[in-house]
Amino acid sequence: MKTVITYGTFDLFHEGHLNLLKRAKALGNRLIVGVTTEQFDVQRGKMNVVDSLMRRLDNVRNSGFADEIIIEEREGQKLEDIQKYNADIFVVGSDWTGKFDYLKEFCEVTYLPRTKNVSSSGIRTLRREIIKLGVVGTGRIAKRTMEELHFVSGITATAVFNPNPKSAKKFAEKFSIGIESSNYEQFLNEVDAVYIASPHETHYDYSRRALIAGKHVLCEKPFVLKETEAKELFEIASETNLVIMEAIKTAYSPGFLNLLAIARSGRIGKIHDIEAAFTKLVPETPKAREYNSICGGAFTELASYSLLPIVKLLGTNYSELSFDCFKNKNGIDIYSKAYFKYENSVATVKTGIGVKSEGQLLISGTNGYILVKSPWWLFKGFEVCYEDPNDNEFFSTPFHGFGMRYEFADFVQNINEASFKNFKLTKSDSIFMAKIMEEFLKKRTNSL
Ligand code: CTP
Repeated sequence: MKTVITYGTFDLFHEGHLNLLKRAKALGNRLIVGVTTEQFDVQRGKMNVVDSLMRRLDNVRNSGFADEIIIEEREGQKLEDIQKYNADIFVVGSDWTGKFDYLKEFCEVTYLPRTKNVSSSGIRTLRREIIKLGVVGTGRIAKRTMEELHFVSGITATAVFNPNPKSAKKFAEKFSIGIESSNYEQFLNEVDAVYIASPHETHYDYSRRALIAGKHVLCEKPFVLKETEAKELFEIASETNLVIMEAIKTAYSPGFLNLLAIARSGRIGKIHDIEAAFTKLVPETPKAREYNSICGGAFTELASYSLLPIVKLLGTNYSELSFDCFKNKNGIDIYSKAYFKYENSVATVKTGIGVKSEGQLLISGTNGYILVKSPWWLFKGFEVCYEDPNDNEFFSTPFHGFGMRYEFADFVQNINEASFKNFKLTKSDSIFMAKIMEEFLKKRTNSL
């Protein structure tokens, strides 16, 4: 009796999968097939899997080769499964050659030649037209995003816009983008969707013009700086069936979603306090965008992150809001705090570009607290703590690269699937944040 075990996503089940399962089964008497969960795929950086786990399981079952089907949900599980099911042979396609040699200590490892010219990624690409993305702005965040885009299928950057032609050209050359432009309308004609990573004060105008031209929009934080502007943009998008999303990478990351689930489950009891801080020292030079006289400053630059857990866990109906801030000689805040009062809880946002502090997120409840250590917005893990420290639990969560791949995966899905519900960062969350930015800027101008 020989047991063979193999694993895969088996998305959009194809001939290559069937061939692999057939040959794997022929190597023994019993075949166990591990199918990955959606979460595990996202964790290992495989974005945009199309078929649900149920459908993928059905397809493997219908192949008729699997004697047993199991779910693969975490790193390190293969070894445990090999022992648990007493597997004699581990089988995988030749695209993985060498990657599983470490299992040779426990069983035979066989890499079967892949079936040529077929893959789930290829079918995914053929099924849909690749979204042509235009990048607005050529600064640091846009550059980082270009690296992240490689990890998301179904979208590719085809054009870049900067009012300064030299900057557009330099960016296009660096990232091999075919079209560069300093004329926004012409640029819009070339693309299906835009990613806006320009200075804050330009977000509203660029987003609006893109929507009017029929393009989907993913706009960097802070989305816009006025509540009415946010409402208007969402309205145009809904009337024209276009997608508009705010790019706060943390909101789309697996770790943050995990934290929300735990916090909402009542594990730490009733939540009475949220404290979120993000500071980043930025030297005050004439060119530094963070000190821009119209809408620069610590709060507009960084508060979007800290407002996120507040709006997600406490909602939009606060009863009181006040601010404190310290400004430089030009009236730009270098350190700001916002204090929220809700019916049964309080929350604080702490931001600084000229003052440094601990960048942690702390959520306090009647049974315990959740602590996400600095830099909390790059959600790598968090701790749930109780009165008795022996009960404390640590959750480690993936956060790949710079993290933009998560928001782009949702952006693509949102564009491609009319029924896709984006619960991670909703219209009302973004409108709330715009409103808080507006309140803050009003108070800052009136000198607090
Ligand atoms: N496989 C194969 N021949 C192919 C495609 C896949 O033998 N043409 C094998 C893989 O090597 C793996 C199993 O089928 O052992 C499941 O592969 P999976 O990653 O789900 O499929 P891919 O088509 O490779 O998916 P993707 O394009 O998303 O990487």
